[in-house]
Amino acid sequence: MQATVPQAALRVTLGCVPPLDLPPEDFRAVAAQVTEAAERFLAGLDDRRVAPDATGEAVAAAFDGPVPEEGVGAAALDDLPQVAELGRVANGRFFGYVHGSGEPVAAIADLFASVINQNATAWRSAPAGIAIERTVVGWLAEAIGCAGFSGAFTSGGSLANLMALAMARESRLSANEDGARPAVVYASSEAHMSMHKALALLGLGRSNLRVIEVDDALRMRADALREAIAQDRAAGRNAIAVVATAGTVNTGAIDPLPEVAQIARDNDLWLHVDGAYGAPAAIAVPERFAGLDLADSISLDAHKWLYQPLDCSILLYRDPEIARTTFAYTGDYARSLTDDPVEGFAFFEETIELSRRFRALKLWASLRYHGLGGFREAIRANLEQAQLLARLVEAEPSLELLAPVELSAVCFRVKDAPNEDILRDVNRAGRVYLSNASIRGAFALRACFVNHRTTDADVEAIVTAVLAAASQRTQRPA
Ligand SMILES: Cc1ncc(COP(=O)(O)O)c(C=O)c1O
Repeated sequence: MQATVPQAALRVTLGCVPPLDLPPEDFRAVAAQVTEAAERFLAGLDDRRVAPDATGEAVAAAFDGPVPEEGVGAAALDDLPQVAELGRVANGRFFGYVHGSGEPVAAIADLFASVINQNATAWRSAPAGIAIERTVVGWLAEAIGCAGFSGAFTSGGSLANLMALAMARESRLSANEDGARPAVVYASSEAHMSMHKALALLGLGRSNLRVIEVDDALRMRADALREAIAQDRAAGRNAIAVVATAGTVNTGAIDPLPEVAQIARDNDLWLHVDGAYGAPAAIAVPERFAGLDLADSISLDAHKWLYQPLDCSILLYRDPEIARTTFAYTGDYARSLTDDPVEGFAFFEETIELSRRFRALKLWASLRYHGLGGFREAIRANLEQAQLLARLVEAEPSLELLAPVELSAVCFRVKDAPNEDILRDVNRAGRVYLSNASIRGAFALRACFVNHRTTDADVEAIVTAVLAAASQRTQRPA
């Protein structure tokens, strides 16, 4: 689209409007330009490479240059298609990491959230925003079988896990006034790296993350957990929490929640469930998540398996009072001037953040547009696609599965082949994108299905791409 004449710039020059203000006609033109670029991006998504065929240097050069002193008006947005071109693509063949697919209704709602620019920190700064956030938290808690939990949106699973362990620490070995003392947290060897970070940041010390062995299905061994706790008690060490993972990042394994919850209860330990990746699947297959409601806190990333654009994570907690004990420290300037429990509510007293994005709007819009049933169906489709890939791998003599497929992550390899090189070749070819994992020391190709656009043909494309790369590697002279 041609750059339109920036009406605002003209009027600023004439002294009629404040600088940076955008008259409605300019807003409409800019918004149309952006939605057109977005529409073209979505329409061509399936034909795109999953990652750009460009070097780091080339991508940096594309966006280098000095900040302009004079604005160029709507031409400033002419390069949006190039931003998409040089990005990664969440089409149905992007299987790396745990990367949600960016549901478009949510994306549009996110634009609106930025336009109305609410600070979702307290009711008085965002009345509708706070009401919507609390409603969506309630919807999600109920949808995963944890009705009655409170919660708050945050940027991602890493921050949700950090907040959960801060609450655990405050509830068991208060540190807010006098500082942290070393204390043990238990998690399996498959727990996410954000746990190690959290222990470091909370002053508990990374060496106090007690790493518990896993069983053949890569789930935490309850007997090993019990033994480790007993050993720490005998040695006089403080312990505050157990972290169970419901959907490990590598393989989607779900720790035995009822047993782990019982052990936590027996030992007066906080139970946090890291469901950043897996917990949304409790909407579709609740039976696999029995015991989730026994947690004190649960992380759930809507930007993973609820298909939301980044960032959109939720920390659920059983007792909002502990959240307040942990996070409330209110300056006089922020004090609420009302006794009304709704109008006086402040997320800044239950979370780390003060200024907060209105993250709930996109999920609210997306859930209302498609219905919870639509999400349940999409999650079930992803679960089935993971099983389909597992069957295709097992049917191909040169491939082998490296772990059971509990949710939607599939780890496999090409037998007797340089899998690291194969992964690089597959991703460079640009048809499908995989990531890697280490399963009991073995390098694994990993495909994770958290994408509402994926079809069975996309699943088949994984095997085709891997076999093609493997055959080229083995034909290549040494
Ligand atoms: C199990 C688990 N926990 C935590 C995280 C961290 O989430 P985020 O990347 O949103 O910080 C991830 C990310 O993949 C994860 O899979």
